Amino acid sequence: MSREAILQVRDLVKRFSGFPALDGLSLAVGEGEVLGLVGPNGSGKTTAINVISGLIRPDGGSVQVGGRSASGLAAHQLARLGVNRTYQVPRPFVGLTVRQNVEVAAHYGGRGHAEADVDEVLAFVGLEGEADRPAGSLNSAQQKMLDLARALAARPRLLLVDELGAGLGPADLETVRARLAALAQRGVALVVVEHLMNFLASLTDRVVVMNAGRAIFEGDLTAAARDPQVVQVFLGG
Ligand SMILES: Nc1ncnc2c1ncn2[C@@H]1O[C@H](COP(=O)(O)OP(=O)(O)O)[C@@H](O)[C@H]1O
Ligand SMILES: [Mg+2]
Repeated sequence: MSREAILQVRDLVKRFSGFPALDGLSLAVGEGEVLGLVGPNGSGKTTAINVISGLIRPDGGSVQVGGRSASGLAAHQLARLGVNRTYQVPRPFVGLTVRQNVEVAAHYGGRGHAEADVDEVLAFVGLEGEADRPAGSLNSAQQKMLDLARALAARPRLLLVDELGAGLGPADLETVRARLAALAQRGVALVVVEHLMNFLASLTDRVVVMNAGRAIFEGDLTAAARDPQVVQVFLGG
């Protein structure tokens, strides 16, 4: 990769009761790059995001952010380094309003002096009209946008996006794609986990294909679709 790496993970291992969900995962993301992370269900994509964002600790390997060791840091510490993520299944504080959810994230996840403008973030994700509603009353597409807002409130330099498009209709999907493209345009590096190939094709610079907890391919999406090992993993599994 020509650009300086904002994220470098090497040989990550994570076991659940002995089962290796991550089994030597290495990958890098450049400053401002959009990396697609794909792979069959159970290949370890969410676990990778959970480890990189500090939600769970790895059993081995290293994580570097901006060239410095970030191994073993907790989620709030990584947020201060500029790393944040969305969840495959969003979990807002259902009793708080939409605005309060974003305020909490800005306060506890933010990079101190660089606290985001909550109104701007709500407008960016299209929730400005829902700001005073309880988060629990949002539909699932809106909950995904609230989760994105919560992540953006910490002003990430690297945003890890876990299946934000899953379950959305074509119109909502295009809106999400455009929002992620706008973030990339502003220089935010993205790791995008998604099964939808058209979505990835128009958004990503490069993809990493995972299988059984490790990377089996790295390159552009068109080349991935022609790679015999990638084809085998998707069609033979
Ligand atoms: N908290 C957990 N406890 C036990 N097993 C887990 C846990 N999280 C993930 N796994 C297992 O690790 C593997 C990878 O899961 P995951 O990272 O969610 O895959 P993906 O996001 O690619 O579908 C799966 O076999 C899954 O069942
Ligand atoms: Mg997953």
